[in-house]
Amino acid sequence: MTAQLRPNGTLRHLITLEGLSRDTLERLLERSQGFVRPLGTPPPLSHSLAGRTVANLFTEPSTRTRVSFELAAKRLGAHVVNLEVQLSSRVKGESMLDTVYTLQALYVDAMVIRDAEAGVPDSVAANVAPHVSVLSAGEAHVSHPTQGLLDALTIRQRKNRLEGLSIAIVGDIRHSRVARSDYHAFRTLGCTDLRIVAPPALMPAPDEFAGCSRHTTLKTGLKDADVVMMLRIQKERMGQADLPDADRYFAKFGLTPERLAGARPDAIVMHPQPMNRGIEIASDVADGPQSVIRDQVRNGVAVRMAVLEEALTGAASPGAAGAA
Ligand code: NCD
Repeated sequence: MTAQLRPNGTLRHLITLEGLSRDTLERLLERSQGFVRPLGTPPPLSHSLAGRTVANLFTEPSTRTRVSFELAAKRLGAHVVNLEVQLSSRVKGESMLDTVYTLQALYVDAMVIRDAEAGVPDSVAANVAPHVSVLSAGEAHVSHPTQGLLDALTIRQRKNRLEGLSIAIVGDIRHSRVARSDYHAFRTLGCTDLRIVAPPALMPAPDEFAGCSRHTTLKTGLKDADVVMMLRIQKERMGQADLPDADRYFAKFGLTPERLAGARPDAIVMHPQPMNRGIEIASDVADGPQSVIRDQVRNGVAVRMAVLEEALTGAASPGAAGAA
């Protein structure tokens, strides 16, 4: 695995949250919080990445993640190019690395990569020039580090801390890169009651998610939880035989107001989206008073600004270069 940190301890690449220290995560969250503004007010703008170029290379569909990386880079003054890789070079048989070398020759400073194949962001990071950063925007079922950070930020905004909280991650954990990055973020930030709640077929392998309790019913999994994180059924990562029937799934694992009542009265409900309303979550809950799903989206831009800025400037806290 390519080193993610520079010798001065700042982030150069972001491929996984696994192995990053609590100090590093706290620093990124602090910086991210500085980029959050109330809705209806102008977003923060700065010139800290003026003259730099960020390329988004997405070979899997994405709405929020791609748009928020693009807005984050632009709000820091960078140029952005978006490559729909499946429509261009990959179908012509060009390898990801050739695309990367081309972008490098075009003065691209950061490559934001989403790919369905495990290991792609790391292999790109191992091959780029020393001034180039690689940021994962989702790697197979393995990792989605900026999502882990934005989820931690959302919880901290509502609950001030992760220590002492009971957090339930519910649904298709087996295929979820979000669950894996949340696991690393939440544990590193001090959560000791992390529960994974899933039907047996969607549970991860026994050697994964060490230290979490496992629940096969919402009743035990949500009991007195402070945070309920719902996940999408990842149909694209399953064979037809593994696909659960939507109605039966909702009947057992769908989050309804009645089921949510088993969690703490002030519990927050999260979902990385896209949501399957009526399969893993009822609309009343998704749009209800306990939902912070739209805060997650807003926080995504702030987290991506913090990550891009640190990766491209090499400074842990660019101070005056920050938001106006
Ligand atoms: C997720 C993803 O693509 O990993 N979406 C996202 O980035 N917010 C989750 C999903 O696809 O279910």
